[in-house]
Amino acid sequence: LNYNATRERRYIVEVLFNGLRRLEYRGYDSSGISLDADPSHAPFRLSSGSLLPSPPPLVFRQEGKIENLVTTFYQEADVTDLDLQISFQSHVGIAHTRWATHGSPSPTNSHPQTSGEGNEFLVVHNGIITNHMVLKETLLRHGFHFESETDTEVIPKLAKFVYDSLNEDLASNGGEDKQTVPFTQVVMEVMRQLEGAYALIFKSPYYPNELVACKRGSPLLLGVKEAGDKRSDTYVEGDLLAKDHGKPKEYYLASDANAIVEHTKRVLVIEDNEVVHMKDGVVAIFKFEFDKSKRLLRPASVQRALSTLEMEVEQIKKGNFEHFMQKEIHEQPDSLTMTMRGRLIRGEQRVKGVLLGGLKDHLRTIRRSRRIIFIGCGTSYNAALASRPIIEELSGVPVTMEIASDLIDRQGPIYREDTAIFVSQSGETADTLQALEYARANGALCVGITNTVGSAIARGTHCGVHINAGCEIGVASTKAYTSQIAVIIMLALALGDDSISSQRRREAIIDDCFNLPSKVRDVLKLDQDMKELAMLLMEEQSLLVFGRGYNYATALECALKVKEVSLMHSEGILAGEMKHGPLALVDETLPIIVIATRDGSSSKQQSVIQQLKARKGRLIVMCTEGDAQSMCPDGTCRVIEVPQVQDCLQPIINIVPLQLLAYHLTVLRGFNVDQPRNLAKSVTTQ
Ligand code: G6P
Repeated sequence: LNYNATRERRYIVEVLFNGLRRLEYRGYDSSGISLDADPSHAPFRLSSGSLLPSPPPLVFRQEGKIENLVTTFYQEADVTDLDLQISFQSHVGIAHTRWATHGSPSPTNSHPQTSGEGNEFLVVHNGIITNHMVLKETLLRHGFHFESETDTEVIPKLAKFVYDSLNEDLASNGGEDKQTVPFTQVVMEVMRQLEGAYALIFKSPYYPNELVACKRGSPLLLGVKEAGDKRSDTYVEGDLLAKDHGKPKEYYLASDANAIVEHTKRVLVIEDNEVVHMKDGVVAIFKFEFDKSKRLLRPASVQRALSTLEMEVEQIKKGNFEHFMQKEIHEQPDSLTMTMRGRLIRGEQRVKGVLLGGLKDHLRTIRRSRRIIFIGCGTSYNAALASRPIIEELSGVPVTMEIASDLIDRQGPIYREDTAIFVSQSGETADTLQALEYARANGALCVGITNTVGSAIARGTHCGVHINAGCEIGVASTKAYTSQIAVIIMLALALGDDSISSQRRREAIIDDCFNLPSKVRDVLKLDQDMKELAMLLMEEQSLLVFGRGYNYATALECALKVKEVSLMHSEGILAGEMKHGPLALVDETLPIIVIATRDGSSSKQQSVIQQLKARKGRLIVMCTEGDAQSMCPDGTCRVIEVPQVQDCLQPIINIVPLQLLAYHLTVLRGFNVDQPRNLAKSVTTQ
């Protein structure tokens, strides 16, 4: 946050803390904050003897939830007689919430990371520095001492090293004038030496009231908030202040729109190799390149249109719900409506069809590809798996599935004739991104299906579709899953558009797409039943889920939800594999869910139920409304009856009660629903 009107520090601190609370869903094991010290503090003398030009910024870091940091901050602030009422004309503060990759959660490993004594350089970092070991060795040789186990710590230390070296050069070349190198030059030199993915913000007492941010690989947004907002929508270097003299103005930098949307929706998406410089309330942005020998080419100033965030503050609040996961499950009739809005054509005059604006110029290429490869992780992978059969059926193109990390590990073959479809809620998952780079390098057509406009995957693919499900906060993905399936089914419909033989089938699917939100509303009425089922199962050690065909993915996704939030072991099993191992587990104690809704493979599922019963299996059967008797004639199974839709859409209906089951199991077992142990919403490191 950079504020350029007189404000009390308490305001600045609260804005930063609140921003952290909004980011807590992404990772939440430790956090930190830094802001300027009272300028009237006595000058700080380093042990080398030199005086810092302004007092060292204050730094507070804490392990655990954001509220631990808030408590520590206010306690220690009192102890150190920090006057929170102090006002600043222009002020920069930085804060960070961490999800440990290198080093366990602890105050020392939290960000901001520091160059050491006097906090000469402070850095917050989102991403990973892959060459930190090499840099650390060099810095150790130059006498730096490291305190933390983080990869980030090399950055402020490198900044200090670079700052000293550049200033020495300047002094040896320059005359009498005592100049220092610009802050941006220090940062660009640091970037030149860093490898990996990062969004960084730097703060330093050598540059009071200044802040420099930069990025490569990881996301970074600049938000602009102005009073009386009637301005042109183009950012021109340095003019954000110039056009609006005297109006209070706040600039925000964040890795995620959630942190800033309650302050402003006007943002600039910062691109790779751009450096944002804030000084005395004025913002300038530069883009720079290196030549082949890694020499810095002259940075060019950037001029670009501001964009407007298409999200509402309400989306990131719980409203009347206890938890985000619960809210997002119940939101699905609306999120699916948003996903399909404007994309389905009703068939009165015209033939029914699908419009996917982001793909219309590429459908021919996709139809002609040798193979479609779906690539994703976690729930996004499951969504692609759920829609695979309908893509194969309507496009006639063979479809293969890849978990992103596995594709990278194997360096699996990808060709120019392939279409690679990247499915990712966040659009930032590191493995999926790396797979995207790999597929691009191999010449495949790359299609993105994400929920995040402006995300790395949305930008890095040749074309794509946004799922428009609205912001998802619960770490366990729910509404994004159903919207991803809906989008992939629409893609299948668009790919099949040129075939007359499948027209009736497509029309039936489109009709049911229109019915989908109301059917999801119906199935949500099972909430209480699912709570009762959760009460029955809450003490269990394990839960198996059998599915096949369209609902193999439902089995995997149910098991994933149950294990990730309720911490109960659960396994999704392809029912066709039952006799090849899983049957050995069956006895009268282990609960088993069998998904047996009506479709081309339900008679096979009926036989699976019989075989499981013959081994005294404790069955919970999910079937189509009215099928309870035929699926479980002796009435010994617990039954979940769901409304019927076209087979390819059925996974969207079927997962909803299972999401509710996972939710209630978690609450009953006393675990944190929205922030499951050890998991983060966006896995931006490998
Ligand atoms: C993490 C999240 C999951 C998500 C997966 C893929 O594991 O906890 O909910 O399904 O990443 O994320 P993406 O943003 O690529 O869909």
